[in-house]
Formats: sequence, C-alpha cells, structure tokens
Amino acid sequence: MRKKLIAGNWKMNLTYKDSEKLAKEIISKIEKKDLNKTDVLLCPTFVSLGIVNKAIKDTGISLGAQNISYENNGALTGEISAEILKSVGCEYVIIGHSERRSYFHESNAVINKKIRKAIEFDLKPVFCVGESLVEREDEIYEGIIEKQLTEGLAGIESGKIAEVIIAYEPVWAIGTGLNATPEQAAQIHSFIRKIIQKLYNEKAANEILILYGGSVNENNSESILSAKGIDGALIGGASLKPDDFSKIVRTAAQIK
Ligand code: 13P
Repeated sequence: MRKKLIAGNWKMNLTYKDSEKLAKEIISKIEKKDLNKTDVLLCPTFVSLGIVNKAIKDTGISLGAQNISYENNGALTGEISAEILKSVGCEYVIIGHSERRSYFHESNAVINKKIRKAIEFDLKPVFCVGESLVEREDEIYEGIIEKQLTEGLAGIESGKIAEVIIAYEPVWAIGTGLNATPEQAAQIHSFIRKIIQKLYNEKAANEILILYGGSVNENNSESILSAKGIDGALIGGASLKPDDFSKIVRTAAQIK
C-alpha cells in the first residue's frame, strides 16, 4: 500500500523569517491523524532549510531541498552538496524540475548524476518529468516522458529504485491555472508505471510513488488525488497558502 505524499515546493519565495512563519502556520493547521495517513514534505529555499527544519521538529513533517549538486564538495561556487543538505535535516530533494530544465538548461544526463548523488547519500529524489504544451499537442509526450525516465534513472539499480519518487508535472500546467484532468494524469501515471516495469520489474512499478504536479489547489485536489495511480501532489502556488495546503493534506488523508 503506497502512502500518499503531499509536497510543497516553495520555489524562490519567502524570506528566512517568512519561511519560519509559513512552516509554523502549516503545522498548526495540520491534524496529527492526517499525518498517519499522508506524508507531508516542505521544500523551502536553501537559505531557509535550517529554520524550517527547526520548526518541523517532532511533527512528522519532512524537509526537502529544491536542488542538489552532483559533486561531493570542493571549488564549486554557489552549489550545495548532498552532505550539506543532510546536515541541515533534508530527507528529500527535488531534481529535474521543469524550471531547472528550461531556465538552467539541466539535461537528462545532469539530472541523472544528481539523482545518483542523492541516492548515494540516502536523500530521496523527487524526480520531475513532464511534457511541454507543444509536445502534448504534437502527441509525442509519451516518448518524451519515457526518454526522461530512461535517461534520468540510468545506472540506478533495482535495489534503490524504491527510494525514488517520480513527480509528473506537465509543463503546461505549472503555474498556469490549467491542470491536467484526472483522466489525463491517471493515463500518464499508468504509462510511467509501465516504463518502470520495463526498466525494473513489476514490484518496483507497484511500489514506486508517483505524484502529480501542476496547478493543484484546494478545489481540484480531491478529484486529482482520487484518480487511479496518483499517490500525492507536488504543489507550488497553493503550498504558500497555509489554509489551502493544509486542506489538500486533509483531502489526501481522507481518500481511501
Ligand atoms: P503550481 O502548483 O504553482 O502550478 O506549481 C507546480 C510545481 O511546479 C510544483 O513543483
């Protein structure tokens, strides 16, 4: 049985103090019983990881970063290593987000190196895949997602695949208010499971968590999270609103 995961990607928002405030507000609005049913993950900026880690101590909520270096350490100005992320309490790291793919030119090969580094240091990668609007309109999205998965997961052994969380985030649905329909999302989640079965085995395909991301909010979360094979959500805008985010957590906890 896969436990649902609701993850907030705060992106490049909130100062140090505002991050602490948001974390505390979210904690105050989430009920303990919901956390038994649903895992919750907060991903603030690097600068605010420490203060958010302090705020979530003993709550059962987890901490994640939004990026990672594929190197261990050294003369790499501005980069953050897996070891540094672990030292500040991170358990997860978002890798391959479409904003990093498009604005920072991260290739599948770079993303693969980052996923491997995260796994080496026992950080769970939240590996993002998804097609652009043109790729969807041209109906080549399955091929794009298969390539992202195959190249992103290259060299990751079957013993480690259960540590990886996949996030299907269609680029056209991110921050646009346009979300994939539950049917569209369920179709891609099932396709992703088929690829995992092909690359690994049936057990891996059944066990891997696959989140949906792209304009998830408190109004559409029930229909999206109830769709077949959707194990949770990676949320941008609505994760900055404590009422909305905690409502989504409650919704996820109530889904059988
Ligand atoms: P929005 O929820 O703002 O569309 O962002 C989705 C996302 O990119 C999460 O990683």
